[in-house]
Amino acid sequence: MKILIVGNGGREHALADALARENTHVELIAAPGNPGIAQLARIEDVAASASDALVELALREQVNLVVVGPEAPLADGLVDRLRLRNVPAFGPTAEAAEIETSKHVAKQLMARAGVPTANAETHRTAAGAHEAVRERFGAPVVIKASGLAAGKGVIVCHTEVEAHAAIDRIMGDKAFGEAGNECLVEAFMTGEELSLFAITDGTDVLTMLPAQDHKRLLNGDDGPNTGGMGAYTPVSLGTPVLLDDVTERILLPALHALRKRGTPFTGLLYAGLMLTEEGPKVVEFNCRFGDPETQAILPMLTSSLLEPMLAVAGGARINNMSPLTWRTGASVTTVVAAPNYPDTPRTGDVLRLPDDTDTRRVFHAGTKRAANGELVSSGGRVVAITGLGESFDEARRISREGAEQVELADKQLRTDIGWREHERLS
Ligand code: GLY
Repeated sequence: MKILIVGNGGREHALADALARENTHVELIAAPGNPGIAQLARIEDVAASASDALVELALREQVNLVVVGPEAPLADGLVDRLRLRNVPAFGPTAEAAEIETSKHVAKQLMARAGVPTANAETHRTAAGAHEAVRERFGAPVVIKASGLAAGKGVIVCHTEVEAHAAIDRIMGDKAFGEAGNECLVEAFMTGEELSLFAITDGTDVLTMLPAQDHKRLLNGDDGPNTGGMGAYTPVSLGTPVLLDDVTERILLPALHALRKRGTPFTGLLYAGLMLTEEGPKVVEFNCRFGDPETQAILPMLTSSLLEPMLAVAGGARINNMSPLTWRTGASVTTVVAAPNYPDTPRTGDVLRLPDDTDTRRVFHAGTKRAANGELVSSGGRVVAITGLGESFDEARRISREGAEQVELADKQLRTDIGWREHERLS
């Protein structure tokens, strides 16, 4: 079984790690991969954005499956191109991926399907967005670039002054480029966030363990927003009753709306939820595995990831498949980031990493080999250290100690990943 994994982050390393643990013999190829993935896969120097070259690679290697990690190649139609050449690919088509790549489309779909989410307006002019804040929303309020903005296009504003400045940044300065051609003004929601991933054939779902991401840079959920500084799973708030409710009132109706729109979604649907006093509401949908939640979730998986992926990529239904199974205990992931992340991370620093153990996984994200063979940092989020434990506190300790052992000059990390769960459990 030959599998091509597209991407080069911690998420793709975790996907490679899970697929390498399958009972079936799996030969992994990664494009472009990273030095961590290189321990599990043959690396091909093809960028995730080079769709035509990736299709050629998949055809030349006669792969049985392509797993697309990041959202950008999905938005770019990589899965559409692979399907045209009869290559089984796990991930949505570009049109289905609009559930992530256009927040406006996502809101329309949710409205049609009756999926609970915050009230929002889409504006194509800054004047319209300013008026919405002034006349109807006030503060606190959330201002969002509608398009893809590498996780940075959502600005939570505590005052109207901040909201007007956010609109000017997105629509006037074009801080996120064309992603800011449309701007959403959205009611602020309060509660805890929860990430729920589901493998889907377009109709039915196989849900994964619920996880919680930590988007702020600093302990205590302080500092600027990042791509995610850590995650843990399971989350005790994500009870079976709550997850069934999310499946019935959010995941299945959203998939139904996508089918009705003529753009059925297959692959991994990620529901970013807010657990409000009125019940779970959607903050956003993503069209791919989340990062760093995947690095926490997949090491807990004891059943096959490959079987449902192959079924979905081959156009088969998953309604007769058994639910995914998980090890007991907990998993906590701590991200180690470069100095000056998230603004302009310093790269090129020498890096020394602890080894994997039975209870610790070291996932590479922003790493590369320098010309002299040394491992150096090459991105903002450099590595993610996952600790597995029989208890939440044990997993947390293993993750934190592993992250502290990472040798990287002026590294940044949070030492409080899972603090809410810790408080709940103590
Ligand atoms: N963890 C946030 C994301 O993957 O978008």
